[in-house]
Amino acid sequence: MRRSVFLILAGLGPCLAAGTILAQDAPRLRGPQPFTRETPAPPMQRQVTDDVRVRRNYPDQPPVIPHSIEGYAMDLNANKCMSCHARKFTDQSQAPMISVTHYQDREGNTLGGLAPRRYVCVSCHVPQTTAKPLVDNVFTDMDALAEPERQPERGRH
Ligand code: HEC
Ligand code: HEC
Repeated sequence: MRRSVFLILAGLGPCLAAGTILAQDAPRLRGPQPFTRETPAPPMQRQVTDDVRVRRNYPDQPPVIPHSIEGYAMDLNANKCMSCHARKFTDQSQAPMISVTHYQDREGNTLGGLAPRRYVCVSCHVPQTTAKPLVDNVFTDMDALAEPERQPERGRH
């Protein structure tokens, strides 16, 4: 332990100071125990599954998932999400259709089906829990920013 700290010190010099500050400020996901001690995992948080669609924080935000996705298959042979969100199933499911961007490759060409880069839905769309945030969120909605922007003294950058 000491030895590795010494090596980091020698190698990284000033970076260490910044690193130490970050390490102290970082929220402790695993509680107050030192990392050398094994502690039981905290219980899984209950997911919000009230079926109420959540407002997006900005237009391009992948909307969060307001329903349970437990046990939904997503592998080479099956994509459970598409059994409701694909265009051809939305009359039965009443689910919002995946938007046109999900049919486009990264060059902007529109494909005949779901773009491979959009196949794993949960890499962008996630369920929510009521867990207390570990860090304060200082995000400001653009609607709140737009008003002061219009004042002449702020001008263009
Ligand atoms: C059984 C049908 C069904 C399946 C399967 C399903 N959904 Fe949904 N989804 C819905 C419906 C219906 C809604 C509308 C809100 C509600 O009723 O929960 C919805 C809403 C959503 C929304 C919110 C859209 C918005 O604009 O707010 C997202 C994101 C979403 N689903 C993603 C997924 C993902 C990812 C999967 C697979 C892991 C999935 N859904 C599987 C039916 C389904
Ligand atoms: C690479 C990230 C990414 C992946 C993967 C992805 N999405 Fe999305 N999704 C987005 C973004 C970003 C938006 C909002 C902007 C847009 O429509 O492109 C969105 C929007 C949506 C919407 C709302 C559409 C609307 O018009 O309101 C639904 C429903 C949805 N996605 C479902 C899915 C499902 C189901 C999958 C898997 C088959 C999936 N998405 C995969 C990023 C992704």
